[in-house]
Amino acid sequence: MNLRADADTQLYFQIGYPLDFSCAASLHNAMFEYANVNAVSLNIEVEPGHLGEFCEAVKALKIGGFDITMPHKSAVIPFLDEVDDISRDFNCVNHVNLRDGKLIGICLDGTGMCMSIEDDAGVKIAGKTALILGAGGVAGPISAELARRGAKKIIILNRTVSKAEYIEKVLHKYYEIETESGEMNIENLKKYASESQIVVQCTCLGMDGHDGDYEDVTFVDNLPKGAAIADVLYTPDRTKLLAYAESKGYTVINGLGMLINQQKAMLKFHFDIDAGDDAYDFGEEGLMVARAMREARANRRKRAAEKK
Ligand SMILES: NC(=O)c1ccc[n+]([C@@H]2O[C@H](COP(=O)([O-])OP(=O)(O)OC[C@H]3O[C@@H](n4cnc5c(N)ncnc54)[C@H](OP(=O)(O)O)[C@@H]3O)[C@@H](O)[C@H]2O)c1
Repeated sequence: MNLRADADTQLYFQIGYPLDFSCAASLHNAMFEYANVNAVSLNIEVEPGHLGEFCEAVKALKIGGFDITMPHKSAVIPFLDEVDDISRDFNCVNHVNLRDGKLIGICLDGTGMCMSIEDDAGVKIAGKTALILGAGGVAGPISAELARRGAKKIIILNRTVSKAEYIEKVLHKYYEIETESGEMNIENLKKYASESQIVVQCTCLGMDGHDGDYEDVTFVDNLPKGAAIADVLYTPDRTKLLAYAESKGYTVINGLGMLINQQKAMLKFHFDIDAGDDAYDFGEEGLMVARAMREARANRRKRAAEKK
């Protein structure tokens, strides 16, 4: 990757805390290279409690913008000048652009996931019923983008039912759409699978390094023929849920497309650049480089710890 650095280079940040193993800046830089923009992204840890100072510094130094990961996606909102209504209602912003001295925030999780479903997998959203599993930070923006793209009905199941009900409430504020919500248990999974042409798995169940997983994934058998299952997770490449769905002949989409398409949406948001299909390859390469560097760093730390 050929990083530029001259007097015109625009600086961007990926912020979070901790940011030890984030691949985000490397992905940004790959996309900047793809789009031939004179910009560089750096990972920077911002400790909780220092977001206000950080935002002031971005304005003072005329930094181009910054992208956000845990734990700042909600906490950053009070420090921004403009946030679209839906991102505000879901209390989630993950991209911020400095425009005419103002910090403009947006959440692109839903955009990334729906680009992956429609543009990459070729699954039309309009007129379909979508079953959302989970109601955490990514589930709301994904539900809203599905609704914006014309989904007929959205069903949200979650361990904590009140969070699913909140997403329903926000959807009704902006869209004329049929919705249902309920507890994520095997009875409801089986019941609602039978009427859903699209499933979006939005929990951390089945993720590498996370303890929990779906005990029973056979609700997939109730999905209609031709249904698609997308997962926000991409490590492992196939969760138990996706592997089972794939073995039954359903279209499966892992979370890598959501991540990389979000970078394409990021180029549009920050630079008003429409990225083509070939941008995906740059994003994938950036991610692979970042993962290799992450592994090397972990090994280096392990060796250093063993020497002590
Ligand atoms: N591919 C991408 O680009 C991308 C982008 C962002 C995030 N992600 C991934 O998306 C996942 C969700 O992120 P998030 O920000 O929405 O997280 P979050 O706000 O913490 O929400 C977690 C969700 O998982 C559910 N959950 C967790 N443990 C559970 C268990 N043992 N049983 C049942 N449900 C459980 C939670 O249910 P409760 O509400 O009941 O707690 C909630 O619905 C993360 O793993 C993250 O890595 C991927």
